Amino acid sequence: MNLAKVPSIEDLRQIYQRRAPKMFYEYCDTGSYTTSTYLDNSAAFSKYKLRQRVAVNIDGRNLKTKMIGQDVAMPVAFAPIGSGGMQYADGEIHACRAAQKAGLPYTLSTMSICSLEEVAKNVDKPFWFQLYVMRDREFTKNMIARAKAAKCSALVLTLDLQILGQRHKDVKNGLSSPPKLTLPNILNMMTKPAWCLGMLGTKNRQFGNIVGHAKDVSDIASLNEWANHQFDQSLDWTSVDFIRKQWDGKLILKGINDVEDAKIAASLGADAIIVSNHGGRQLDGASATIDMLGPIVDAVGDKVEVHIDSGIRTGMDVLRAMALGAKGTYIGRAYIYGLGAAGEAGVTRAIEIIRNELDISMALCGETDITKVGRHNLLMPIPTHMLPVDAPAKPRKTKR
Ligand code: GLV
Repeated sequence: MNLAKVPSIEDLRQIYQRRAPKMFYEYCDTGSYTTSTYLDNSAAFSKYKLRQRVAVNIDGRNLKTKMIGQDVAMPVAFAPIGSGGMQYADGEIHACRAAQKAGLPYTLSTMSICSLEEVAKNVDKPFWFQLYVMRDREFTKNMIARAKAAKCSALVLTLDLQILGQRHKDVKNGLSSPPKLTLPNILNMMTKPAWCLGMLGTKNRQFGNIVGHAKDVSDIASLNEWANHQFDQSLDWTSVDFIRKQWDGKLILKGINDVEDAKIAASLGADAIIVSNHGGRQLDGASATIDMLGPIVDAVGDKVEVHIDSGIRTGMDVLRAMALGAKGTYIGRAYIYGLGAAGEAGVTRAIEIIRNELDISMALCGETDITKVGRHNLLMPIPTHMLPVDAPAKPRKTKR
């Protein structure tokens, strides 16, 4: 496959859909319940119109900046994604290598297939680690100790998944890692020979951070199963203190989609917060994150770095988020599409696509430095959806 001729993230998605088993493709490419927030996340970006400026010298452009003090080649990090190693054999290693070669931070999920240690052994530089807080605090402490031992350079604490929003497709598909050998699964996998060959060539086929590390867990088939039994539903803001005591490195709080929560998070001394609704996979009906970004930046942007994920599929989306005041963005599905399509090379292509889109769109806005973009680059939508529900709607005067 000549990846240079794959022009967009959407084209990568189509290749990925053909290559990966239905169960894993649909795990990635869906949201919870009616999927309204999942769909709204991406759609909402296009409401923010980029302001076209012309006849500006756009020579010598710069996309480099910093996220939590770390140099990044552009303000795009890799979001944590569960089961990456089921989309492509050893997927987390492929994705992390591509990110690091491109000068971007990679975040490994607690629910990865390749373990922390396995990824660390196979990549050159430190990566970030995403943590779920489990009821078993010893397991949580041990996980943090493992992240330290693997030299992870930031901990990303997820706050929006103490309980799992149902994804209907996972229920219908009987999602499990590795897939159970039922007749429909076997028939589907027979149409995915490259995927099967890859999986036969690796020993990483289970949740590597969990199996063999958590008490009495020798087998765990899905995030759903693990979340129902193990995720700590009593997690609250005091849990951040508990994490802080175990981890003295950079800390990022993920899953904030409300101004009041952002204010609390900012007061806790984290290095960054991520405005996120978990890619529309948790609270169906929640606001698109890009709509919450502006108000959150206005409330806490001078106290903490504000990052955003959920719905970013293009470089134009990255530009919109930066113009609204984000200091960094995260791609999830956008790189998984590349991973599922062609492993490391596919992820590299996804990065190139986003980088080119960001660079060219920034130039067409008349800007040459990503650190200088701002709200002057946007035509803002009228945010009627942000009105309190009891605000009276003004009757529109119609001329007869
Ligand atoms: C994991 O974080 C998921 O959303 O499935």
